[in-house]
Amino acid sequence: MKNTAATLMSQKQSGEKITMLTAYDYTTACIADECGVNSILVGDSLGMVMLGYDTTLPVTMEDMIHHTKAVSRGAKNAFIVGDMPFMSYQTSVYDAVVNAGRLIKEGGAHAVKLEGGAAVCPQIKAIVDSSIPVVAHLGLTPQSVNAFGGFKVQGKTYDKAKQIIDDALKIQEAGACAVVLECVPADLAAIITEKLTIPTIGIGAGAQCDGQVLVYQDMLGMTAGHTPKFAKLFADVGALMREGFKAYISETQSGEFPAAEHTFKIDSEIIEKLREED
Ligand code: KIV
Repeated sequence: MKNTAATLMSQKQSGEKITMLTAYDYTTACIADECGVNSILVGDSLGMVMLGYDTTLPVTMEDMIHHTKAVSRGAKNAFIVGDMPFMSYQTSVYDAVVNAGRLIKEGGAHAVKLEGGAAVCPQIKAIVDSSIPVVAHLGLTPQSVNAFGGFKVQGKTYDKAKQIIDDALKIQEAGACAVVLECVPADLAAIITEKLTIPTIGIGAGAQCDGQVLVYQDMLGMTAGHTPKFAKLFADVGALMREGFKAYISETQSGEFPAAEHTFKIDSEIIEKLREED
């Protein structure tokens, strides 16, 4: 079944949890899609997990389009959300619409995601008015890492929690079709989930959200050392990769690989003739 903004909304209404995973390349998108994930987020987290930056801030529109194109070639049924990178929408409503359009036209995304609340409502409204679904993102919004002073849980005081609730209502009013809630207390995410008619998709925001999203490297043990508290290790693919790479190195060095079954044959008469010519 094709997933769309409308099917995610009906999942909220029926209580069927929404599943979203990040993917940044064709192969991973094919596998996640084949497994039946509802939505694939081409997150600007690719700056950290694919490109090795310390933050998402250096990610460009060109990076996002390049990876979104690969994902959209692989995913047949998932609702593909392309992240708008830092400074691709904060600068003006015009920039926001143009760049959202590029993620759809060039990248093949079905929707875009951008970070922020009331401050970006004009951008959300203008993008939605251009017939592009928008997923909002509240709580720990990684593009504000410098303003927050680090990657920290958000919404722990009354004022901060109230602010996030107000922002959630405003982005819904502006036309967002869903909202990612990142690193906020579970009870706060539960209140927001009750108040909104659009789905909430949590990451480090507890089980009461309408759905969950994880960065796939975090849930497959593929991060170099640090796994966030909210990311369960569902399969240790990182350990399997290390095992496989080490076995390949060792068998190549010993000559065990490649064996006869990995090798192509040629008629022995041709080989003899080639040898005689030497
Ligand atoms: O960029 C990303 O992968 C995200 C998720 C952490 C929600 O925004």
